[in-house]
Amino acid sequence: MPLPGPQAHEVLVGPGLCGRLPELLPVPAHAGRTALVTNATVHTLHGRQVAMGLRDAGLDVHEVLVPDGEHAKSLDTLTVVYKRLSAIPLGRDDLIVALGGGVVTDIAGFVAATWHRGVAVVHLPTTLLAQVDAAVGGKTGVNLPEGKNLVGAFHQPSTVLADTATLATLPVRERRAGLGEVVKYGFIADPEVLVLLEACPAAAVAGAPDLLTDLVVRGVRVKAEVVAADERESGRRALLNYGHTLGHAIESLTDYNTYRHGEAVALGMVFAARLGERLGVSEPGLAQRTVSLLGPLGLPTGGLRADPARVWEALTRDKKARGGVRFVVCTRPGEALLVDQPDRTLVDEILITLA
Ligand SMILES: NC(=O)c1ccc[n+]([C@@H]2O[C@H](COP(=O)([O-])OP(=O)(O)OC[C@H]3O[C@@H](n4cnc5c(N)ncnc54)[C@H](O)[C@@H]3O)[C@@H](O)[C@H]2O)c1
Ligand SMILES: [Zn+2]
Repeated sequence: MPLPGPQAHEVLVGPGLCGRLPELLPVPAHAGRTALVTNATVHTLHGRQVAMGLRDAGLDVHEVLVPDGEHAKSLDTLTVVYKRLSAIPLGRDDLIVALGGGVVTDIAGFVAATWHRGVAVVHLPTTLLAQVDAAVGGKTGVNLPEGKNLVGAFHQPSTVLADTATLATLPVRERRAGLGEVVKYGFIADPEVLVLLEACPAAAVAGAPDLLTDLVVRGVRVKAEVVAADERESGRRALLNYGHTLGHAIESLTDYNTYRHGEAVALGMVFAARLGERLGVSEPGLAQRTVSLLGPLGLPTGGLRADPARVWEALTRDKKARGGVRFVVCTRPGEALLVDQPDRTLVDEILITLA
């Protein structure tokens, strides 16, 4: 599916794409050397097949391993990777291929944005979150001790190949967390996503390939449409933050080590639905539907142990909270809008219901 916009890139979704690299890869005319950026976990599972495919495509492949985990998104990792690229040496007409979750695509994307002032990158996302979100849209970056994603750049990949067969090896918790992000797309733009998940939550959690392929295609389509629309009327991109205002606050309050991102977003969506109903903006029953959908997917809908005062502080500290706290609220499945500065007492009351 082509992604609309001035720097359009193709996103292909389907099972088995990593086995068809020679046919699918848009090898830049002069590319000879390729840095395959991945981590040891993903390399063990899928690296050999991908390296073979790249070699069959005529590329001289150099594997560059980064550590596994969010802490790998650091300036230290960048230094190590840049040194490896200069040892290869990787030229400006060469290629970077990212194979992994959002951590790997964010690092490799940033390296590609900056190496020789920009080289081509192809993303092969291997987590559900990376396939529906991180690898699509061109945002790249690393963290500083002072905050997440503080150093970054926009750099569109030349192609994204989302091989949904790779999702079969994901730990089940990662698949569930990715589904949290998928549910978000359902509430803000594509209610059919909700219907699909309500019909077979167990199949989604188990990684049924056809279902996941359908969900990834739908998620990517929503992200592409929203990002493209934002180029015309600024602000639509903010709707992608459904469930994220509270989600980010929860992640930061728990030092990013208690909830996976999609789990925190799940709690955020329950909160947003209750807020919307209390404000009379969301259709009645939305919050109940949210809880009934997320529960069978194994995503949290309660059990939040956090002092509302600390949550409020984290909400107002959020780097995106420029003019005050802003929430995305779903009016009815498939439609969303922004609510600025809701009453703090109301926010506190709803936070208590999440305990
Ligand atoms: N650039 C963007 O627009 C954007 C959007 C959303 C998230 N992100 C970033 O993405 C990152 C989170 O990404 P994530 O959730 O994919 O986490 P992750 O990259 O850490 O991957 C999760 C775990 O799964 C492992 N893994 C990956 N693929 C696997 C597979 N197929 N089989 C088995 N294990 C596999 C990884 O090694 C890791 O241990 C965050 O740093 C976030 O900031 C970026
Ligand atoms: Zn997210």
